[in-house]
Amino acid sequence: MSESTGPRPALDLEAFPPSFAWGTATSAYQIEGAVAEDGRAPSIWDTFSRVPGAIDNGDHGDTACDHYHRWPEDIALMKELGTDTYRLSVAWPRVVPGGDGPVNKAGLDFYDRLVDGLLDAGITPSVTLYHWDLPQALQDRGGWTVRETAEHLAAYTTAVAERLGDRVTRWATLNEPLCSGWIGHLEGRMAPGLTDLTAAVRASYHLLLGHGLATRALRAAAPGARIGLVTNHSTVASASDRPEDLAAAVRMDGHTNRWWLDPVHGRGFPADMRELYGVDLPERPGDLDLIAAPLDWHGLNYYFPVTVADDPEGPVPYAREVRVPDVPRSGMDWQIDAGGLEALLLRLTEDYGVRELYVTENGSAFPDTVGPDGAVHDPERTGYLEEHLAACARAVRKGVPLAGYYAWSLLDNFEWAYGYDKRFGLVHVDYATQRRTVKTSGRRYADIIRAHREATAG
Ligand code: IFM
Repeated sequence: MSESTGPRPALDLEAFPPSFAWGTATSAYQIEGAVAEDGRAPSIWDTFSRVPGAIDNGDHGDTACDHYHRWPEDIALMKELGTDTYRLSVAWPRVVPGGDGPVNKAGLDFYDRLVDGLLDAGITPSVTLYHWDLPQALQDRGGWTVRETAEHLAAYTTAVAERLGDRVTRWATLNEPLCSGWIGHLEGRMAPGLTDLTAAVRASYHLLLGHGLATRALRAAAPGARIGLVTNHSTVASASDRPEDLAAAVRMDGHTNRWWLDPVHGRGFPADMRELYGVDLPERPGDLDLIAAPLDWHGLNYYFPVTVADDPEGPVPYAREVRVPDVPRSGMDWQIDAGGLEALLLRLTEDYGVRELYVTENGSAFPDTVGPDGAVHDPERTGYLEEHLAACARAVRKGVPLAGYYAWSLLDNFEWAYGYDKRFGLVHVDYATQRRTVKTSGRRYADIIRAHREATAG
């Protein structure tokens, strides 16, 4: 890499073990495009992105980064960055277009080529089975609000694992079930766009059940698989010391963190939240054991902390987010606080007993442009990256078994309801030409990876 990023604040890179995995992450609908090629059927995001007003600028994923055709170039970019690993997701509607039933060989062929390309480049694939792109055919039959969808996830998982399991060992079942469950079914800001508490609670249950069933399917189809779940979390602070606000923070923590972590780590669904939601869970004997099936690792996606106040008239969990003044914010208007990452890594280790952890996503959006010099200078993203890696290093020094870090994202991409305006990439994408430009933050990441290798080389 030719451009030097110059002197930088020291990072405690020796905190990370020599085997530490440096990666980037993406997801299928956000980058692939080719939505009608080789037998792919529509997903709920193809549908949602056609709802007037649902997505900024009326954007959609029809072409996105055209990764379906440009993946060799994108693997070359990963090599240029010097990353060890790449987290991708498989599109369920490419592999089983109807949601259940026949497997589409051409869909699997794409991921087969991609995995081989990664391995040839010396990059370890980490495959997520579900990153929000439910086949529309299943949504038409109830989507995540019905149990069958969890069972269909397991069948689709088997098809993928039978094809890729001889070469892929690192697997995740779901990405951020909180977003599918709460944002998709309660807040309506993501597909399928519902605002229904009963639907949301049922969906959350079936997502976690699907995780359990997919874990079992993976163990059967790919005996060497190392399986994890990827969840997103925030630290939750109370806006004041008033008892009402403190209680609101406990509720928000339950909604954002405990509802997802407790059942997966063998504690069942939190009683306070069950009572708050007041929705009967569609439980059957044995489900909780499936949901709590032993995992090999846990993936944490972290972006921002939240601060809340009591809001008895507001929506569940009756906790209103309060804007903290005079703090750094990203282009998403999200508060930047690397301490939250350290705190959550410690919580997963100390409270939940996780023995192998990855930061499976972390990153920031800023409105980048290609300068007259042809470069993309993004000092804010570079600062965000450094601060969060410093937080990881502190966590490791305190005993967190952190095995890797995946920067979100390799490429600028389709940022869901925000469309293409929000750019998270270490690599800039000019959507008109599909030209890729490594940003200064990408170069800094490459330098960090190289420096870590040098510092820990035996
Ligand atoms: O782009 C998303 C990703 O799909 C899931 N985690 C958060 C990212 C940034 O919003």
